[in-house]
Amino acid sequence: MAKFKTIDDLDVDGKRVLVRVDLNVPMMDGKITDTSRIDRVVPTLTELSNKGARVVVLSHFGRPKGRINMEFTLKPVAEALQLALGLGVKFCPESVGDKAAQYINEAAEDEVVMLENLRFHPGEEENDRMFAIRLADLGDAYVDDAFSCSHRAHASIEGLALLLPAAAGRLMQAEVEALTSALEAPEHPVAAVVGGAKVSTKMEVLGNLSAKVDLLLIGGGMANTFLFAKGVDVGSSLCEKDLAADALEIIGSAKEQGCEIVLPVDGVVAREFREGAEALVVELDAIPADSMMLDIGPKSIIDAVGRLEGCKTLLWNGPFGAFEIPPFDAGTNAVAQEAARLTREGKLISVAGGGDTVSALDRAGAKGDFTYISTAGGAFLEWLEGKRLPGVAVLEK
Ligand code: 3PG
Ligand code: MG
Repeated sequence: MAKFKTIDDLDVDGKRVLVRVDLNVPMMDGKITDTSRIDRVVPTLTELSNKGARVVVLSHFGRPKGRINMEFTLKPVAEALQLALGLGVKFCPESVGDKAAQYINEAAEDEVVMLENLRFHPGEEENDRMFAIRLADLGDAYVDDAFSCSHRAHASIEGLALLLPAAAGRLMQAEVEALTSALEAPEHPVAAVVGGAKVSTKMEVLGNLSAKVDLLLIGGGMANTFLFAKGVDVGSSLCEKDLAADALEIIGSAKEQGCEIVLPVDGVVAREFREGAEALVVELDAIPADSMMLDIGPKSIIDAVGRLEGCKTLLWNGPFGAFEIPPFDAGTNAVAQEAARLTREGKLISVAGGGDTVSALDRAGAKGDFTYISTAGGAFLEWLEGKRLPGVAVLEK
């Protein structure tokens, strides 16, 4: 179990407390589509404010690559935070410097200040010491409540924590405690579902996970790369053909380590990726050249659901199909509902993480039954792999 200071160990009364949160929320057409990451930092912010702290909220949003780009402003998120908090949230268009200091000094006692996107500055992602010092100048203490960013050794995560009295926020505590207790010594068999679109971003994860789990169910666009590697003609499906050799290597090494990789045995295809597109169930040897796999097929669903039955622990990141558009949500829904049932009946420990995953489980009506839902995606996966997370490690110093 991680050992770090918490808010209980910090003297915050009358102090300016910089709170790093992860308000990198999913947004579509300017609207926030899931407020989980906002809702779950409310307890920390409220508690600090109640204890007399002058709360300053720090976050990144999207990947503006070190440049000011108003497409990635945190302003709309500040409005949503104000709603969730029930406290005034004053948005400052800068994240360091005189203006930020002025906003903080002039804030009313129960008002929270939220600074603009940290990633408008190149120093954030570079973990630049000067940038961390400029951030530290704005506060007297630091609280990290961004478990979902703890795989990033960035200035506001790592550098800053070394410059001020630092502690973990309540969400950070809850995430580390829940994941540790579920996964430190998981009951076997352990199954992992890894889905989503791009295999290139998760290749390493798959390799590492296969050493830890008994069953690895690969879904989403990623599965196509594996199917292609095994000689399936995947039509016009999303597929990273140049990774075929890596996929075969993972299949081979998983086998050696006693991990079974489960791929779809049939699919649901369509010519277009849109609502109402004509969907067709096909065998793997009959994927039309002009069609793409958008979900696993009925036989694959029966297979996946049946395999869960024998498992004691389930880790889930990434959907099986294009769950945003029915009917391509059928695979994800069916497996999620089965996991929910087994968890309700006390037969399965189920832990899920990742923005898409959580919203898919929510749509399937399964979210409430899972043992634990993490706000983290990338950090959740790296935790599962057993990697050291810089954001957690720095708090343990
Ligand atoms: C996330 O959503 O995974 C975190 O906010 C980290 O964002 P990043 O992947 O752009 O570093
Ligand atoms: Mg990420």
